[in-house]
Amino acid sequence: MMLMTYISSLALAGAALAQTPTGFLPAVNNTLDVYYGTTYITPGLLVKKSSVSKQPTIGLTGQTLTGKYLLAMIDIDAPSGSSRSTVLHALLTDFTPSGATQNGTTVLTTKATGPASYFGPAPPAETPKHPHNYIFLLHKQPDNFAVPTSQKNVVSSRIGINWVSFVKDAGLSEPIAANYLQVQSGDNTRRW
Ligand SMILES: *[C@@H]1O[C@H](CO)[C@@H](O)[C@H](O)[C@H]1NC(C)=O
Ligand SMILES: *[C@@H]1O[C@H](CO)[C@@H](O)[C@H](O)[C@H]1NC(C)=O
Repeated sequence: MMLMTYISSLALAGAALAQTPTGFLPAVNNTLDVYYGTTYITPGLLVKKSSVSKQPTIGLTGQTLTGKYLLAMIDIDAPSGSSRSTVLHALLTDFTPSGATQNGTTVLTTKATGPASYFGPAPPAETPKHPHNYIFLLHKQPDNFAVPTSQKNVVSSRIGINWVSFVKDAGLSEPIAANYLQVQSGDNTRRW
């Protein structure tokens, strides 16, 4: 696959453990391994919109895996009047180990396409430019998991999801791993 990725690194000095952006709750220290093709996402990596249009490969390194997992991907920089809101880019259930590894990562896969299917970042143009942070959060999936009634509207509209509230209402435990990437506002790259 010929996906071009322009990579820039983020200075993480002083925040060596955080796998979530400063100020985001819940804060998470364990790394969720995220790959778009062969590109490994280090926390905060700035990537091209065209390279993240398809659902990534995810997994964990060095953890004992049992049961099922659910994944959320949330943009925390969506313009909303003079402030910023959130957009749910994916909420996918039923991840289990596929049996494959990539670069030492135990790959997790799912056949689920919901409750909210993956849609790739497409941050609108802004002046001045404002890179959006897209956060991945992996949780253990409780038995009989369902989107709680209180969260159904926000999941179907995808606008304004508050992950702390979702976790509480859905009875989830703290995330077991996280990661995040950035895409520049107004990135108009197309898929090759
Ligand atoms: C993450 O690591 C920092 C520094 O060791 C620690 O203060 C913090 O409590 C940890 N957070 C979580 C959620 O484990
Ligand atoms: C493999 O994973 C390590 C982190 O565990 C990462 O630093 C490295 O970039 C990855 N390499 C590839 C080729 O995916």
